[in-house]
Amino acid sequence: MSNALTDYLSKFTEADWLAAVDELLPCVHDVDKDALQIWFRFYPLDLKRYLDAAEDRAAAELGVALQGKFGLEDKIDSSHHFLYGHRYWKTVKAAIEAETVVFKESTPTLIEEIKAIGMAVAEKLHVERQMINAMVIIGLATLNQVGVEAFKAAPGEVEQPKGIMAKSPNAVIAERAKDDSQGLFGFLKTVNKKYSVAWENAKSHGKFTIVNEQEISSASSNDRSQNWQKQDERCWEGVVPVECVAASCGTCWVGVLGGAEKLTEVSRRERRAMKVFGYNQPEGDHPFLRLACQAKASGNATIVIPAWNAVFGKKVRGNVEDVELEPNTTSAKKLRETLAAAVSAE
Ligand code: FES
Repeated sequence: MSNALTDYLSKFTEADWLAAVDELLPCVHDVDKDALQIWFRFYPLDLKRYLDAAEDRAAAELGVALQGKFGLEDKIDSSHHFLYGHRYWKTVKAAIEAETVVFKESTPTLIEEIKAIGMAVAEKLHVERQMINAMVIIGLATLNQVGVEAFKAAPGEVEQPKGIMAKSPNAVIAERAKDDSQGLFGFLKTVNKKYSVAWENAKSHGKFTIVNEQEISSASSNDRSQNWQKQDERCWEGVVPVECVAASCGTCWVGVLGGAEKLTEVSRRERRAMKVFGYNQPEGDHPFLRLACQAKASGNATIVIPAWNAVFGKKVRGNVEDVELEPNTTSAKKLRETLAAAVSAE
């Protein structure tokens, strides 16, 4: 089922949505600026359209080495759990639903449509518009990907924020920027400084300890406090899914919500690998997407873990000449062979 609003939204490409995100950023509160950009990388429209258009969906998923749970269909009310604005979802969703009834394509730009809905919601909730805009563009992108029927069928209920997310937006930013104390004489320590990585995934949240200059994935694998594979079958050890630990498979990609500047700079290898995988990593030495097996921490960091991974840069985005990957483990090698076989079969 489509209507004037979904017809209008369907005209925009992935690049259009990302351009709208960039244009909207000055009108988004700092607490959600990176989270908004991460959300659009976790739910890429072009990969969804590629898979939807495939005659054989299972073969197409195999062809891009997709693992985990991709897509928004079962996450309409939850995909944005890591945004501060998540708490306003019920009202944002209701406003978008109302817009599906009255929308006429006289609105000249996507950004104006977003801001108009954002203004109405902000007035209703008595909240600053910059707290709402990110949720509106995410809501419209979700509607575009799942359709009116599924969008309306979702209950729109969200859990009340807990932990540091229950604080003010500026307190959340300050909390994420803080490092763990090293004790009374911590300033004398040159080795064995210990920090924390706070994480969120689709089902849960928590923290693990990281030693100074340790890779995030290595620190995650030391945390044996839960049966991680029960939460996500990609998690062999620790909450961050890993496979090759050598920037060759893309399994360990994470969004960085805080402490990005305390992670080592992106190497040429990591930057190149992210293009091959299709994760659309922005330029910059300390971006908001990282490979956990490459990023070493020298302070506290806050990450969000996506529910899937794939290698789709070449097939879907055409942004790399060749798939240049060097498998380091048997299972990573198998993953690459699957991909190579799918590519050569075309
Ligand atoms: S675990 Fe393979 S890229 Fe990090």
